[in-house]
Amino acid sequence: MSTLVVVGAQWGDEGKGKVVDALAKSAQVVARYAGGNNAGHTLVVGDRKIVTHLVPSGCAYRGTLCVLGAGMVIDLDVFHDEVADLQKGGMLQNGELRVSLDAHLIFPFHRLLDGAREDKAKGGAREIGTTRRGIGPAYEAKAARRGIRVRDIFNPERLRARLEHNLASLGPELARLGVQAIDIEAEMSRAASWATWLQPLCCDTGELVYSATRGGQSVLIEGAQGALLDLDHGTYPYVTSSNTIAGGACTGLGIGPTAIDAVWGITKAYTTRVGAGPFPTRLTCETGDLIRKHGAEFGATTGRPRDCGWLDLPALRHAARRNGLTGLCVTKLDVLAHLPRVEVCTGYVDDCMPGVHDFSECRPVYRALEGWGDPSLPKQIGAARKLTELPAPARAYLDMISEFTGVEITLVSVGPKRSQTIPIRDAF
Ligand code: GDP
Ligand code: IMO
Ligand code: MG
Repeated sequence: MSTLVVVGAQWGDEGKGKVVDALAKSAQVVARYAGGNNAGHTLVVGDRKIVTHLVPSGCAYRGTLCVLGAGMVIDLDVFHDEVADLQKGGMLQNGELRVSLDAHLIFPFHRLLDGAREDKAKGGAREIGTTRRGIGPAYEAKAARRGIRVRDIFNPERLRARLEHNLASLGPELARLGVQAIDIEAEMSRAASWATWLQPLCCDTGELVYSATRGGQSVLIEGAQGALLDLDHGTYPYVTSSNTIAGGACTGLGIGPTAIDAVWGITKAYTTRVGAGPFPTRLTCETGDLIRKHGAEFGATTGRPRDCGWLDLPALRHAARRNGLTGLCVTKLDVLAHLPRVEVCTGYVDDCMPGVHDFSECRPVYRALEGWGDPSLPKQIGAARKLTELPAPARAYLDMISEFTGVEITLVSVGPKRSQTIPIRDAF
C-alpha cells in the first residue's frame, strides 16, 4: 500500500485520464491537487467515453473516494453539472466525493475576465491561448489574498466582504474591458443556492489524505496539465497559473513529501500542445496533420486542434528531473505506427539547455529512426498486451526514451481503451 503521484510530463493531454483510470482499480483514494476545469481527462470505460474536468479520474470505480484538494480552483456551475452527469451514468452513487473547504472558487466574473483579456490580447505576444475558464483570475485572487474559498459559501457575511473586496480591486479593469461589473446580490444568491448541495461533500481533505496514507491505503494522486505548463518550471509566461509538477501535490493536498512513495510521469510517444507558447518540435507540415488525425488531437475541454510534433527528449528529461520521476508511462504508441517515418529530438542547436535557456530559443536536433509504417502495425500495436508483442522498432523506441531520461518505463498505452494497456510495474 502506498502513495503514487501521476503527472503529465509534457504540455498536458498526455493521457492522464486513461492511465489514472487504469491504475485506480487498485486505489482506495484518488485525489486532484491543482488546476480546475481547464483540465479535460478522458477515460474510456467499455464503449463509454467519459471526460472529467474537476472530478478525479477514479470516479468509474465504486467505492473509490474521489477528492478535490485545497490547491484546486472550482467552478461550482461546472462541478455540479459534472457530478450530475456522472451520477446519471451510475457513478458516484455512494458518497465517493469529498471537496476541500480551502479550495478556491471560480465565479462568473473570473471567467468573463479571462475571456476579455484574451480577446484584447488576440494575435499579440500577450495572448496565452487560455481555456477561458477563469483559472488565471481565480489563482490571481488567491495570491492577492482576496480569493473566495469553498468555506466562504457557508459564511454569508465573509462572502459579501470578499465580493466587495474583489469588486473594488477589479472594478476599473472590468469597466475598461467592457465586462459587466460584479453583481454582489446575484453572487450571494448563487452561493446560497449551492450551499445545501455542497455542504455534505466538504471536509478537511488534508486530514483525509493524511489518514489514508498513514492508514495503509493505496492513494493515487492525479496531476492536471503538464510539467511544461507549470507556473514556475514551465514555458513561462505561456503556462497555467498553478504548480502542476509533483511538488504541487504536497502543497495542493497538504501532505508532506515524505508521504509520497513514487511519482510516475506520462508522456505521449510524440508531443502536442494547445494554446500559445514555445514548442521546439512543433511540425507545421503534413506529418503534424497526420499525427493530429490519427491521434485525434483535439482538446477535451475546448475542442481546439492541438499542435503536434516529434517527441522532445531534452524537454522530457527536464520534466523527469523537475518531478523526480520514478516511472514513465508512454501513451499513444499506436499513433506513431501510422507514420511512414519517425524522428525524435535528442538535443538543441548550440547546446541550448532547458532551464538555462528559454524554450523559445531552443532549435531541435533530430535523429531519424527506423520507421514502422507498415499498414498492419497500428492494429498489431493496439492489440499488444505485453512488451514482447510489440514490433522491435517500437520496443527500441521505448528503450531509447528510458535511457535518455534515466527513468524506467512502468506502463505503455497502445489505445484509448482500458484493455489497451501494457502494465510493466505494479502501481501499488
Ligand atoms: P489528459 O488530459 O492527459 O487526461 O488527456 P486527454 O484526455 O485530454 O487526451 C488524451 C486523448 O488520447 C484522449 O482522447 C484519450 O482517450 C486518448 N488516449 C489515451 N491513451 C491513448 C493511447 O494509448 N492511444 C490512443 N490512440 N489514444 C489514447
Ligand atoms: P489537461 O489536464 C492542455 C493550457 C492552455 C493555455 C495555458 C493556460 O487536460 O492536460 P489556463 O486556462 O490554464 O489559464 O490556460 O494552459 N492548458 C492545457 N493544455 N491540457 C490541459 O489540461 C490544459 N490546461 C491548461 O491551453 O495554453
Ligand atoms: Mg486533457
